[in-house]
Amino acid sequence: MSAESTRATTARSANPPGIDPLEWPTARIADVDEDAVRLLVHTFYGRIRDDDLLGPVFRQALEGRWDMHLEKMVAFWSSIVLGAKRYRGNVTQAHQPFGHLSGEHFSRWLALFFDTLDKLFEPQAAFAFAEPAIRIAESLQLNLFGWEYTLPPSQRALLDSIKQRRPARQHD
Ligand code: HEM
Repeated sequence: MSAESTRATTARSANPPGIDPLEWPTARIADVDEDAVRLLVHTFYGRIRDDDLLGPVFRQALEGRWDMHLEKMVAFWSSIVLGAKRYRGNVTQAHQPFGHLSGEHFSRWLALFFDTLDKLFEPQAAFAFAEPAIRIAESLQLNLFGWEYTLPPSQRALLDSIKQRRPARQHD
């Protein structure tokens, strides 16, 4: 990582580099580029790793493989938000081993992801990540928990708030 990007590096070497949650930037990012995606991914998974509910799940699954996971997630979000076409993988298949989890785990994942987005990005930039995240989370849960599964109220509320946040189209 270059000297210029030291802002994205925490002193806590045990965790993936990201922003120390106590030092959120005052200026939020409006134009997303690959550095911004990297900052989001590293900051988000730093928080995931420290989370009481999700930390143990991720630490167990990714023991010794964090670097690979973080690189893959940078490729994934770059493909979605920047059209980078670098991610090659099967998201549904990767989550098959997690049928023992619950909607609560997904609610926490989304709450942490949305909070990180809000702190790092201007609303329009955050939206570019938030909408696919909630859509994919819903599809993963239906796949894991069955088609009868209904989203917990907190996730329904997130979905509704996302719909309201959809930016107006330029020619509307
Ligand atoms: C409770 C919720 C979730 C848990 C516990 C979870 C856990 C994991 C874990 C442990 C991996 C690594 C799998 C491996 O390499 O062995 C993974 C991969 C991945 N996750 Fe999640 N995840 C969750 C939600 C999501 C959501 C909502 C998204 C979508 C935005 C997502 C996107 C991905 C992607 C793209 C990969 C890489 C898949 C690949 O190997 O190609 N995850 N997840």
